Amino acid sequence: KPRGTRDMLPDEMERRREIEARMRARARLYGFREIATPVFEELELFTIRSGEGIINEMYVFEDKGGRTLALRPELTAPVLRMYVEEGRSLTKPVKWCYFADCFRYERPQKGRYRQFWQFGTELIGADSAMGDAEVIILGYDLLKTAGVTFVLRIGHLSFMRTLLADLSDSDAKKIRAFLDKREEAAAVTYLHDIGQDHLCDPLIRLCGARTLDDVFAVIGEIPEAARIQETFAILDAAGIPYEINPAIARGLDYYTGIVFECFAEGLGAENQILGGGAYRLAHLFGGEDTPSVGFAIGFDRVMVALGETGWNPWQPQVMIIATSEARTDALRVARELRMHGIITETDVMDRSFSAQMKAAGRSADYAVIIGKEEVATGTVTLKDLKAGTQEKVTVPEAIQKLTCA
Ligand code: HAM
Repeated sequence: KPRGTRDMLPDEMERRREIEARMRARARLYGFREIATPVFEELELFTIRSGEGIINEMYVFEDKGGRTLALRPELTAPVLRMYVEEGRSLTKPVKWCYFADCFRYERPQKGRYRQFWQFGTELIGADSAMGDAEVIILGYDLLKTAGVTFVLRIGHLSFMRTLLADLSDSDAKKIRAFLDKREEAAAVTYLHDIGQDHLCDPLIRLCGARTLDDVFAVIGEIPEAARIQETFAILDAAGIPYEINPAIARGLDYYTGIVFECFAEGLGAENQILGGGAYRLAHLFGGEDTPSVGFAIGFDRVMVALGETGWNPWQPQVMIIATSEARTDALRVARELRMHGIITETDVMDRSFSAQMKAAGRSADYAVIIGKEEVATGTVTLKDLKAGTQEKVTVPEAIQKLTCA
């Protein structure tokens, strides 16, 4: 087979199809519908704004009619081309997702291939903190659905742009390229070489900032501050864990606002399994200037990460434990949890309360306990059986905790 490509046997295909189906179904729950674009496009589509990194890695060829074409290295540009050509009359926001193969002439290694698959989403025509946050939450949920362990890092391009505002475009680009490759020391050396020593210390401080206060202490208040704060507040309210990382630069040139990446545990150098952010492309393809936000998951890397842990997509298993007078409530709550995709069992053996507790300890991750007091107060007791901790919550709160667990 050609270097950087793989053959896939039935066992692997079954695993891939299972995870792919879960992701598709989850994206659909958020209102994202699947689309497809051609495997090759006019080369120019990618040279307009995708950035040097991608341009150097493209598979480019001339067809028999003399057209210069490229195998798609990613789908954001094709999807936005499609939006301009087909979707302009559609009601906004347009919510599309895709699962497709991409081609990049990179040096192959574990988790890095020349043909690889992306599961991506694009929210086109929304310009709000809610839109940014919802797309980030969807990305987080898709990786959770797949069963992979990861951290989510979020930055905003305005942080570095503000700090590097006085540099020439090409110098600022160089710095961002170093940061994208996580080569902070090289960025500092570069600043030194171009006589911008006064920026070295602020750059190091900004890269190390982990709160918005730290960020603004380095660069001062910026016009985007309120929108960024609102986005983070929505993520906090949704219970999404994330780290702030102003060093995120993204390897593609079309981003304009919030940017985010997810990193899997134990994958080595190629551990970035999701990348995305807010961008503007439609106007470059002949459409109106349209704010958009999206991401793509590196599907093959997710599969490698799952392989390391012995593929067991984790889903919380819940056992409802009820006193005899709360039996009917137990069934109602069980149905509610199941409607949210949570695997839930109830006692069908007429066991005593303590026997139910024992059974849950053997087979479940969480117990949802319903007794006289819970019925009276409209709550349940959610017990984490592994950690041994418990708290009284409403059913919607329990669902949120279980789906974000
Ligand atoms: P990207 O960061 O270039 O972003 O790629 C997204 C993901 O694709 C990466 O995080 C990585 O997991 C995976 N990936 C990239 N190159 C390879 C490779 N050679 N082998 C295996 N996996 C790879 C984009 O492509 C943007 N279009 C994402 C986006 C969508 N931004 C807005 N909307």
